[in-house]
Amino acid sequence: MSASTSEMTATRGPALASGADLASSTQAAALAAAAWVGRGDKNAVDGAAVAAMRRALADLAIDGTVVIGEGEKDDAPMLFTGERVGSGWGTACDVAVDPVDGTRLAALGLDNAISALAVAERGAMFDASSVFYMQKLAAGPAAAGVVDLRLPVRENIFRLAEVLRRDPHGICVSVLDRPRHDELVAEIRATGARVRLLPDGDVAAAIAAVSEGSGVDLLLGSGGSPEGVLAAAAVRCFGGVFQGRLWPQSSAERTWMAARGYESGQVLSAKDLVAGDDVVFVATGVTEGSLLRGVRSEGGDHVTQSLVADARTGRRHLVESRHPQRPRVSS
Ligand code: FBP
Repeated sequence: MSASTSEMTATRGPALASGADLASSTQAAALAAAAWVGRGDKNAVDGAAVAAMRRALADLAIDGTVVIGEGEKDDAPMLFTGERVGSGWGTACDVAVDPVDGTRLAALGLDNAISALAVAERGAMFDASSVFYMQKLAAGPAAAGVVDLRLPVRENIFRLAEVLRRDPHGICVSVLDRPRHDELVAEIRATGARVRLLPDGDVAAAIAAVSEGSGVDLLLGSGGSPEGVLAAAAVRCFGGVFQGRLWPQSSAERTWMAARGYESGQVLSAKDLVAGDDVVFVATGVTEGSLLRGVRSEGGDHVTQSLVADARTGRRHLVESRHPQRPRVSS
């Protein structure tokens, strides 16, 4: 990945806004959240990040509709599903936001909290707002057509090992550390593969699973549906495999799915979740992580690291930005 901001301005979605402009909203959210890192208050982390991202989005020349946001309007005062964001003057687009993925990580001062946002053509994003959980699978490009959520875990690991020309012992699978995954973890370990248990944050983990050299080959398990759509947007830009299957937990969720024609068990690909050619994904580190560095202070400035990725060009940029905290003095 290059780190040039001038090149980043060429990273555009559907004449949406430059990658640099979009990254300003995840940077604003990360900077606001950083003030709350380690203070034990996840609502404060989230509240600060949501307000800052919303303010930054208002300055962008987009006519955005939040498809993946903080929830339904009645529960979420800001960045709710259906909220219009941006100046209203740019191209019409769908917006998925997660001002902080890993609010608990940030509140506890733990690694791998990020702020993430994706933009795609209007109508391109799957509305996952009403079904909380999604079963997920992510793996690198070599796994395309090889692994599948419908296959048993054991078969996926053996198939992946074969295509990567490794023994299953050489495969590492990321799984959210939740009691609901105990059986899954046992099945993975029974193949000889290793498990990396994640306290939280499966958007960054999906990106790691599709990225060569991350040390992780596969992401499995259930997590938030909104995070699934954001991960799918990232995978559209990075390449690789992402599959999601809505996992309803109540009759209300099942009714919602049926009303929209989603069959239970239906597997959605990255393209089903985020369609169209123009997809831009941006993320900024809140705390230190394997994907991105967290917000840090240098010489009185705050420094952020952001990732900007574009599905149309396949370009990815890693950007360090300095955010002065007081006016520059020069002589
Ligand atoms: P939040 O930052 O919104 O709390 O999400 C963190 C997260 O770990 C996501 O990355 C993941 O998709 C989801 O929570 C999993 O949900 P649960 O904690 O209910 O298993």
